[in-house]
Amino acid sequence: MSEPILEFRNVNKSFGPIDVLHDISLRVHPGEVLCLLGDNGAGKSTLIKTLAGVHRPTSGQILMDGQSVEFNSPKEASDRGISTVHQFGGTFPLMSIGRSFFVGVEPTKTWGLFTVYDRKRANEIAVKAVQEFGITRIDDGDRLVGGLSGGERQSLAIARAVHFGARVLILDEPTAALGVKEAAHVLRIVLEARKRGLAVIFITHQVIHALTVGDHFAVLIRGALAADFRRGEKNRDEITDLMAGGEQMAELEAEIEAHQRARMGHPSSVAELG
Ligand SMILES: Nc1ncnc2c1ncn2[C@@H]1O[C@H](COP(=O)(O)OP(=O)(O)O)[C@@H](O)[C@H]1O
Ligand SMILES: [Mg+2]
Repeated sequence: MSEPILEFRNVNKSFGPIDVLHDISLRVHPGEVLCLLGDNGAGKSTLIKTLAGVHRPTSGQILMDGQSVEFNSPKEASDRGISTVHQFGGTFPLMSIGRSFFVGVEPTKTWGLFTVYDRKRANEIAVKAVQEFGITRIDDGDRLVGGLSGGERQSLAIARAVHFGARVLILDEPTAALGVKEAAHVLRIVLEARKRGLAVIFITHQVIHALTVGDHFAVLIRGALAADFRRGEKNRDEITDLMAGGEQMAELEAEIEAHQRARMGHPSSVAELG
């Protein structure tokens, strides 16, 4: 197997007194999809935010190409090729496809004495980039992003990240708000990014989506890595059980706690009464 592009080494993250991530060690390879699974609140977003320059780990290390890295801002991370696409594509509904593709890095042309935004070129490049990802329905760069479906917006954002040189693509629950067809659309784009040699970190709590595209799976339960396995090593039921296991444990713990509290209030046990 290739060298990992990324490695989390004993990463911990606390917010004040609240420990959110516990000693996470994980490797990510280029040309692979790592699925980060876990229930709401498990720490998935926090983990990728320590990578994307949003949060600093409280302790532990993040390595890129075997070298320790510290990102102080999302810009520093994206300059190194770490690109996050958010749930709604992070695009601007009132902008054209061409404009939103190039926001901040617009191609220009000279017009008399002026340097102006080159709309035609921006549209051509944007449409070509998106179509290369198989989204042939997007053929007019002047269309507004707001008129695209959820899946198309995600696809546009992913194509954009790849076009601008992303090496690690982070997708935080890209399919959570989508219908079946739209989700399938996004999953195809994930596979396309993988084919181009990107490392994809795909966050989801939908096991079926993970199984469709994943090479490598990591399950987070209350901030700890509960399982780390490769494609074919566990089936859908086993993964679902693993994820539900965390929930059931939490319920059980709460039940035990409630029981103990009740006992403290009522020292005589049921058995004594009988
Ligand atoms: N900035 C923050 N300050 C305090 N607690 C946070 C912060 N961000 C996340 N958390 C807590 O960390 C836990 C994990 O959250 P998150 O990473 O968003 O989970 P997930 O993405 O798996 O649903 C939650 O209990 C959440 O309340
Ligand atoms: Mg999240």
